[in-house]
Amino acid sequence: MQVEKHQAQSPDVDANLDALHRDVYANNMAPYWAIDRKVTNDEDRQVQQGRKAVPFLWKYKAQVEPLLYRSAALIRTETSERRSLVLVNPGLAPQRATTTTQYIAYRLNDPVEIMPPHRHTPNAIRLGLTGTQNFTGVEGESVVFGPGDLVLTPHDTWHNHGNQGNEPAINVSVLDLPLAETLNSIAFEHNYTEEEEGRRISRARQTERFAPDYSARVYSRGGFLPRFVSHQRGAGAASPMYVYRYAMMREMLEKFRDWDGSPHEALMVEYVDPTTGGPVYRTLTFFMMMLRPGEKTLPVRQTSNITVIPFEGRGTSVVGDQRFDWEPFDTFAIPGTHWYEHHNRSDSEPAILFVASDEPTLKALAFFQKFGKNANGDIVRLS
Ligand SMILES: [Fe+2]
Repeated sequence: MQVEKHQAQSPDVDANLDALHRDVYANNMAPYWAIDRKVTNDEDRQVQQGRKAVPFLWKYKAQVEPLLYRSAALIRTETSERRSLVLVNPGLAPQRATTTTQYIAYRLNDPVEIMPPHRHTPNAIRLGLTGTQNFTGVEGESVVFGPGDLVLTPHDTWHNHGNQGNEPAINVSVLDLPLAETLNSIAFEHNYTEEEEGRRISRARQTERFAPDYSARVYSRGGFLPRFVSHQRGAGAASPMYVYRYAMMREMLEKFRDWDGSPHEALMVEYVDPTTGGPVYRTLTFFMMMLRPGEKTLPVRQTSNITVIPFEGRGTSVVGDQRFDWEPFDTFAIPGTHWYEHHNRSDSEPAILFVASDEPTLKALAFFQKFGKNANGDIVRLS
């Protein structure tokens, strides 16, 4: 039978096409052909109209903190082991995702509460915000941490959280959970056991197997690495250093304060795996960035998805066509491919920003691109 060529939209063809599209969708398929520029028939435009993270700012003082205290009053540890406020990007809702690959949650721990251990495939970090005795036990190392300290709970490591102090403690977590979700590779375990006299016994706490200052003692002298301990900790594909102290990071930033730094990234220092010099996780990497008083970065656009948690100071960032005025403990999302720039508006105080990026994921997949504008406004490839 000879197939007739589609003539410009005779009523018959239109009706048949409508019926065809209906049946294609009814069978859980989608057409990939462009018949005209109407969105209903143009797959390329439909794909671009799909769910996509948007630039967004969550305010800590006005929004996050009051809701944290209200939830702490109503949701007791006995009711639920978990009590976190998850930042949901309006472009991705109802998915619990702050950017396409990152999940950020704030948590308030009541005085002296410690949760039971669990483990999962997603990697996580916690950044202390308030309180000096946040607690995380990770693979037998007990980490007590305060504001600005970064604690790793890598994929597949048993960990439990809490607060050893007598005051409430607030921290923020960043996980690669939406990435693991997209790859359909999330696995959780809650029944923590330890071996005792040849038998597995369920435990509500991890027995300490490492000195509390193990990470600092073994790894916190850059350039020196003990040969007499194993650097295979947890499941192995992450930094074996589980806590990075803010005092050291802050001191380092201060030492470079008079240097030029980068016109696009000011003074940016990456947290690295001390055994490789690479990012702490295969999926995510983390930085602290110092903007000197009055400093303004040149615009950058990259394919990586970035979240920024200002830790000290106040300023303004422009992300795409949005302007975000930020202060400590806010979070803002810079989805991949948006132009952004940061400005410290103070003429006397530095601003310090904590930055989380999925750059290692994109580099592993060869999807990473980074562009900047120079002082003339010309676009240059940075990476
Ligand atoms: Fe966890």
